[in-house]
Amino acid sequence: MVILMERLQKVISNSGYCSRRKAEELIINGKVKVNGKLVYELGTKVNDNDEIMVDNKLITKENKEYILLYKPRGVVTTTNDDKNRKTVLDLIETTKRIYPIGRLDYDTTGILLLTNDGELTNLLIHPKNNIDKVYVAKIKGVLTGLEIKQLESGVLIDDIKTAPCKVKVRKKDKEHSFVQITIHEGKNHQVKKMFQAVNHEVVKLKRERIAFLDLKGLKPGEYRYLTLKEVKKLYALKNA
Ligand code: URA
Repeated sequence: MVILMERLQKVISNSGYCSRRKAEELIINGKVKVNGKLVYELGTKVNDNDEIMVDNKLITKENKEYILLYKPRGVVTTTNDDKNRKTVLDLIETTKRIYPIGRLDYDTTGILLLTNDGELTNLLIHPKNNIDKVYVAKIKGVLTGLEIKQLESGVLIDDIKTAPCKVKVRKKDKEHSFVQITIHEGKNHQVKKMFQAVNHEVVKLKRERIAFLDLKGLKPGEYRYLTLKEVKKLYALKNA
């Protein structure tokens, strides 16, 4: 179980008891007890072990879950699919209402995080936090120096210019290249569309890393829980 210190008003509102603003009001008006003691201060930090009572009713906190999945090919990244295809949640045994952070295409493999923590989700998907997402694309043809520069400085996809990124050719032969591309955004089909913009088709795509997290020790379809240390390290990536 992950123990994180969180603001009291947030814990109350996340429990579904009331809105954040209402929770603040309740705290100020002396309706909230933590471990039997009245608390008046907004921003008081609590953790999973603290007993929180509002108007003498116990608040039950939803424990957070953080999962790192090696997504295999042929699975959709949604919580349920209208075409009845297998979803990433079918690969995970959980009673929590977790959901994927961002999306990998049906035929894309690699690292995918799932959680019920909305704050961490926002942190990881917001481009301003510059979270590295490292992909390896097998593409048709060989990239020229100019194409690498174009990709790195931004190409137009759906009329919007992509943010600067890093591109490195890992290996190539006459027909294909294996290209590592590190981006901070997560637009729909972004990597495939970026290569399309410089006239190269992606034939295989794998996400190898998100920030410092990789697929070490996992096979396609397998998953593990993040450690508390890893969750804290992810929170520390927030761009203040
Ligand atoms: N970019 C893509 O084109 N597809 C993915 O699955 C992820 C990023």
